[in-house]
Amino acid sequence: MASSLTAPMAMPRGAVIRLADSPATLAQAAASEVLAVLEAAIAWRGEAHLGLAGGRTPTALYQALAALPFEGWSRVHVWFGDERAVPPEHAESNYRMANEVWLAAAPIPPSQVHRWESELAPAAAAGRYHDALLALAARQERPVPALDLLLLGMGADAHTASLFPGSPLLDESQADRDAHGATAPRLAAAVHVPALDTWRLTLTPTTIQAARTVVVLVAGEDKHPALRRVLGQATAAIDAPAVLLHHLPGDVAWFVDRAALFGAA
Ligand code: 6PG
Repeated sequence: MASSLTAPMAMPRGAVIRLADSPATLAQAAASEVLAVLEAAIAWRGEAHLGLAGGRTPTALYQALAALPFEGWSRVHVWFGDERAVPPEHAESNYRMANEVWLAAAPIPPSQVHRWESELAPAAAAGRYHDALLALAARQERPVPALDLLLLGMGADAHTASLFPGSPLLDESQADRDAHGATAPRLAAAVHVPALDTWRLTLTPTTIQAARTVVVLVAGEDKHPALRRVLGQATAAIDAPAVLLHHLPGDVAWFVDRAALFGAA
């Protein structure tokens, strides 16, 4: 099978590809990138805001972060790019996975781990997370909070966070209005995902696109078709939501393994 790189592929402007031989080396490379960005943010602003990805791919990355020496954890705030609409102790919870493999033993003050209150009704959980993000934006004196580094994954259908193909959240003209009737950016949302017949909680494109740095983790042969569509820019974000990552003012690094990029290990 011809490598996908032999076919013409117009790489998106600003997209950096970091190729790893395996999911294990992918995790180590991404962990080094995370610590470098956090260290710079702490040096420049006194604190760092890190958004975590859900799913299975980042597990090895979180284990690597738990093992690497880093003096700055007490200055780090952890957020979650998305969450399942289940209690935090549920097997499907993104918070539970990160907490079990890393956060529970990390020297990060619990008050700086900002989980979605996913035990609440989805709309209430999204409203609480929106308010927490709005408070961060106020501290940063910005209209939209800027996470220093946002980790994201990508599904085989090119979804990212919990922005799935056809999601109404991908049409940002549906922004909420504040008490004064002005258009206010929606920072977090609850969204029903028909393909999964379940509710999800997710950062909106507004918040994702405000991140200073985005690291996208993509591993496995099953992701190759979607990665090729997304990096090849041959489709729109409504059909392949990870395409929205091409329209960021910040840096975007795609940490991929050979199986995802070439279609075979
Ligand atoms: C989630 C994630 C989701 C994930 C992709 C890839 O809650 O599932 O946020 O966007 O990153 O589905 O998941 P895997 O890493 O398990 O392939």
